[in-house]
Amino acid sequence: MKILVYGASGQLGRRVLEQLRSRGLNVCLGGRDRARLEAMAEAGEEMRVGPLAQLPSGMAVIVNCAPLGRADCDALIEASLHHGAHYVDACGEQSLIAHILERHQEGALRAGRCVVPALGLDYAVGDCLARLAAGGACSDLIIAYAFSGRQAGGNSLQFATSARRGAEVVFRGGRRGPVPLELDSGRFDFPAPWGRQRVGRYGAGEVITVPRHTRTTNIRTLITASALVPHPVLLPLFPILRPLVALVLRTPLRGLVGLVGRWLGGLRAPRQEDTKPAGGPAFVVVVEAFEGPRKLARLWATGNDCHQTTAEVLVHGAEYLAGGRATQCGALPPALALPPREFLNGLKSLRWGE
Ligand SMILES: NC(=O)c1ccc[n+]([C@@H]2O[C@H](COP(=O)([O-])OP(=O)(O)OC[C@H]3O[C@@H](n4cnc5c(N)ncnc54)[C@H](OP(=O)(O)O)[C@@H]3O)[C@@H](O)[C@H]2O)c1
Repeated sequence: MKILVYGASGQLGRRVLEQLRSRGLNVCLGGRDRARLEAMAEAGEEMRVGPLAQLPSGMAVIVNCAPLGRADCDALIEASLHHGAHYVDACGEQSLIAHILERHQEGALRAGRCVVPALGLDYAVGDCLARLAAGGACSDLIIAYAFSGRQAGGNSLQFATSARRGAEVVFRGGRRGPVPLELDSGRFDFPAPWGRQRVGRYGAGEVITVPRHTRTTNIRTLITASALVPHPVLLPLFPILRPLVALVLRTPLRGLVGLVGRWLGGLRAPRQEDTKPAGGPAFVVVVEAFEGPRKLARLWATGNDCHQTTAEVLVHGAEYLAGGRATQCGALPPALALPPREFLNGLKSLRWGE
């Protein structure tokens, strides 16, 4: 039973490799640069470099840690299913998650295998919590993220506006649609040490994954303002700034965006999460389920290292699939492919509760 880590030489790939090895699992390193893979491989470990169509043969699971474009991603998934392997990734982009779930459902069912995108801290944890909090149906869901200052880079303005991302979507009135013109700013009560924080809309993957297992009308995905913009004062302007900045980032003026961002970041008053003692929690995900005005449940999950948790979520998920413990086959969100409570309970880098 072998697990191929594609993109094994990257930051996430290295952590996934370490965790697979520490669980005594049989790994194969995959990627496009043999020299970089050789530097990572331990004695006796197999390496695969070459056409995506050949890489998955003889593997139980493919763990994709490379930021592949849509065409390469499709090619790797099709090859995985063709060779009888499950496929997982930590892809965080809404449009790619939706594409994978829609495009590969039939192939995965035919092959009797699982294709599970978004299997990282974002957005498998929120997806599982939402499934548990709503118990299958509720009118409204709120999924809110807070990151400490040290770990918020992956959700920055530049990330949100990068040219590779598809258009953000929201889930309102029982269906997915484009982001309306709105000034999204509010406050949300996170557990200590974050407390009450200013938040903004977050183009999170649960907008795509949760409606596949939970009958609901509205999903609000939020993130702390400090993770989105260099200065909280800019948050109400974020919906206007976002398309503008996206345009500027495609021109030689992109350096200016970084300069302005760093300048504003320097002016910013110290945030609570910046002043937390080292070693405190790095993130928290909170999910609240409502039926009309009545709150049905509030669940949270927290941990000390975002990247470590993402690697563990991928490895734990891959181990489930390799061991034939998937809940069902198909192209599925994490909470449908894996038993959500048992899965979260098995993550050592995560604490969760009510
Ligand atoms: N959901 C989450 O919570 C979460 C958290 C962390 C990361 N991620 C996602 O995981 C992915 C990797 O992140 P990272 O921090 O590990 O990035 P990274 O350090 O830049 O590593 C990327 C890896 O992918 C390979 N790669 C890049 N483009 C490729 C391509 N077109 N074809 C084949 N291989 C390619 C690179 O290999 P070369 O040596 O050949 O360039 C490298 O091994 C990103 O998509 C990121 O968004 C998700």
